[in-house]
Amino acid sequence: MAKKYRIAWLPGDGVGVDVMDAARKVLDAVGVTADYVPGDIGWEFWRKEGNPLPERTIKILKETDVALFGAITSKNKEVAARELAPELQGKGHVYTSPVVAMRQMFDLYSCVRPCKAFPKNPLNYREGIDITIFRENTEGLYGGVEFFPIPEEVRNAIEKNNKKMARFNKFPAADVAMSTRIMTRTGCERIIRKAFEFAVANKKPEVTLVEKPNVLRETGGLMVDCMKKVASEFPAVAWGEGNIDAMCMWLLKNPDRYHVLVAENMFGDIISDLCAQLVGGLGFAYSGNIGEKYAIFEPTHGSAPKYAGQNKVNPLATILAAMMMIEWLGEKDKARIIYEAVSKLVAEGKARTYDMGGNTTTSEMADAVIAAIRSR
Ligand code: IPM
Ligand code: MG
Repeated sequence: MAKKYRIAWLPGDGVGVDVMDAARKVLDAVGVTADYVPGDIGWEFWRKEGNPLPERTIKILKETDVALFGAITSKNKEVAARELAPELQGKGHVYTSPVVAMRQMFDLYSCVRPCKAFPKNPLNYREGIDITIFRENTEGLYGGVEFFPIPEEVRNAIEKNNKKMARFNKFPAADVAMSTRIMTRTGCERIIRKAFEFAVANKKPEVTLVEKPNVLRETGGLMVDCMKKVASEFPAVAWGEGNIDAMCMWLLKNPDRYHVLVAENMFGDIISDLCAQLVGGLGFAYSGNIGEKYAIFEPTHGSAPKYAGQNKVNPLATILAAMMMIEWLGEKDKARIIYEAVSKLVAEGKARTYDMGGNTTTSEMADAVIAAIRSR
């Protein structure tokens, strides 16, 4: 008998709901058997409860095998504070991205983002691009150690240890903000190792580190060190490195030269969007946030509030995220069926959502994937 999974179902905000409905139909069509446990997450819960990731949702994540997540509306601190329900204002609630929070809370350290051009996708920058990004997902610039203002003792302690801080300490405390980029050997090594393991398993010739060690000497330097060490454990795979700025240029110039990229959190975030655009934009960008025991899969796009509930956006990213999710659960055959159905549908070009230049709706696109599955 087929295994029955418990899948946390987190549509989130805006178009998250539309695309998750589409993914659910496809999961049903390939015969995934699961209890789908809906969880509250997103802007609505921030406004009403002062917490976009309520405790009850965290409990669901702890009790399920895996999660599929739709999209989230993120706004900056001031806007978030203003939109909070009047009775919650001024009570010290601080908005932090629930996606980032889940990644850190469950130690989902590998953010894996496949960027593969489906043949004949009209949105392909070039045919044949096949890049997989391994983005460190728990530390670095998005590690959440930030100050504004910086406490006096922190300012002084830093200046005592690093004279360059004096330049900033000349300004009034209220005018200086600081976000740190903290990286650990453990954090760097484990994401790099995942990238190499993937390269071996998928016969990729090379892993490329995206960093900036010429400027970020300490953290970047640590990452390069870890790269050298881990690379030596995988003699069959070549390795290279490029600076984040130059890589943005090289990826546009020679996207076929790259296969597997590994990067710290923010640099991985940046190249993810760049590589997503090479293969069709956010309608095709999907990812897995993967830890040792738990994983959350998601389309990489945002909640596109202006299209919410309009049955308009491209659901393929979420359908592919669902595919990646069942593959992680061990359902390789079913995952393959979805992959082939999406490939076929894109190549045929009959169903195209607005981003692809057509007028196929979200639900029609899901139906087209299902039709491709059935016509095998
Ligand atoms: C992503 C997104 C998120 C991130 C945002 C929504 C917090 O850009 O998944 O790439 O920066 O990680
Ligand atoms: Mg991003």
